[in-house]
Amino acid sequence: MNPEPPENSSDRPADPPRRRKRYAGRYPHRPDQRYKELAPERFPDMQDHVRAQGRTPAGTHVPVLVAEVLAALRPQPGETAVDCTVGYGGHALELLKRIGPTGRLVGFDRDAAALENTRERLEKVFPGPDAEASGRSGLPAAPRLVLRHGNFAGLDRALAEEGLDGADVILADLGASSMQIDDPARGFSYKFDGPLDMRMDPRLPRTAADLLRTMPEAALAAAMENLADEPDAAAIAQRIVLVRGTSPVARTLELVHLIIEAKGLSPQHWRKQAAAAGEDLHPAARTFQALRIAVNDELGALRQLLRVAPACLRPGGRIAIISFQSGEDRLVKQAFRDGVTEGVYAATGDELVRPDAKERAANPRSAAAKLRWAVKA
Ligand SMILES: C[S@@+](CC[C@H](N)C(=O)[O-])C[C@H]1O[C@@H](n2cnc3c(N)ncnc32)[C@H](O)[C@@H]1O
Repeated sequence: MNPEPPENSSDRPADPPRRRKRYAGRYPHRPDQRYKELAPERFPDMQDHVRAQGRTPAGTHVPVLVAEVLAALRPQPGETAVDCTVGYGGHALELLKRIGPTGRLVGFDRDAAALENTRERLEKVFPGPDAEASGRSGLPAAPRLVLRHGNFAGLDRALAEEGLDGADVILADLGASSMQIDDPARGFSYKFDGPLDMRMDPRLPRTAADLLRTMPEAALAAAMENLADEPDAAAIAQRIVLVRGTSPVARTLELVHLIIEAKGLSPQHWRKQAAAAGEDLHPAARTFQALRIAVNDELGALRQLLRVAPACLRPGGRIAIISFQSGEDRLVKQAFRDGVTEGVYAATGDELVRPDAKERAANPRSAAAKLRWAVKA
């Protein structure tokens, strides 16, 4: 046994040079663990780095079709704009820049938490009422930015409450935001485990788990078919009803597992099987989309928006709607065409506007986006 060397002895073996511990972990998989992306003020380059890889930085949302929306809406200085779906505020920010200090933007979102975060960010860029404008008129300045927690289906009432006779520009960018999808606790994602919630507004009465527990088999199948074109709707609905007979389907990954089995895929090899069949969509994507649309009555809200929009637009006002699903796009196309026939709208775009290859590569989540626009007579 070697005796312990005396202190300061030259015989004492030198301490091995201290080495920085090598990072052994992988890049955090779950967006809620990506602490660098979630703290842009501490890691300013991180978001650009992530976006350059075609990913959406955690806690953010990359706006889609921005140039095309602005070309369709042509927002002018001093105009009143409505952003029905503020989300992370990407489109709202661009609208605010163009309507300038004398313009007004009224924004809506059903998601109170997202709205508060976005309010903070937007108010840093566009602080409070414009003092110069109020000084000129001698009247108290109207706030440039009003953000309202609520459903855009109530747009007509909300504009009246804001004392507005209408808007010059209305934008709706439908569906869920990346912040909602990437937060496992919200239950929108088929990639991460979480409770099957999917409510954009937690005040809504029913979660996705509630629907899976209570909807009759035929209604479940019809929802998956009509709201998401799910080809295996009947088999998935049958499996849900079978499984819930023993225990409720309450977690996202339970539902994913059940869908994979209902489609006759192997839980271990479904990725290879799907690739061999040329299927690039996750097997659960359509079911999750249908549930989200049903939980939030997204088609009901869109129908109501399309009904009230003409009365909410000033003469010559422009409306643009971005949808991500064929059922929504059909509603928008029909409403705008009917509006032109009835003389409510002066014009609508004949062609569907889609993201170009560059945008799809930079932001794969934009791939399904479809933009339509109309101009009030
Ligand atoms: C695709 S994101 C919008 C992203 C936004 N354009 C941006 O640039 O960050 C859709 C947002 O609309 C909200 N939303 C969906 N349906 C709504 C409705 N009927 N009323 C109000 N907000 C709604 C969602 O909560 C979500 O935050």
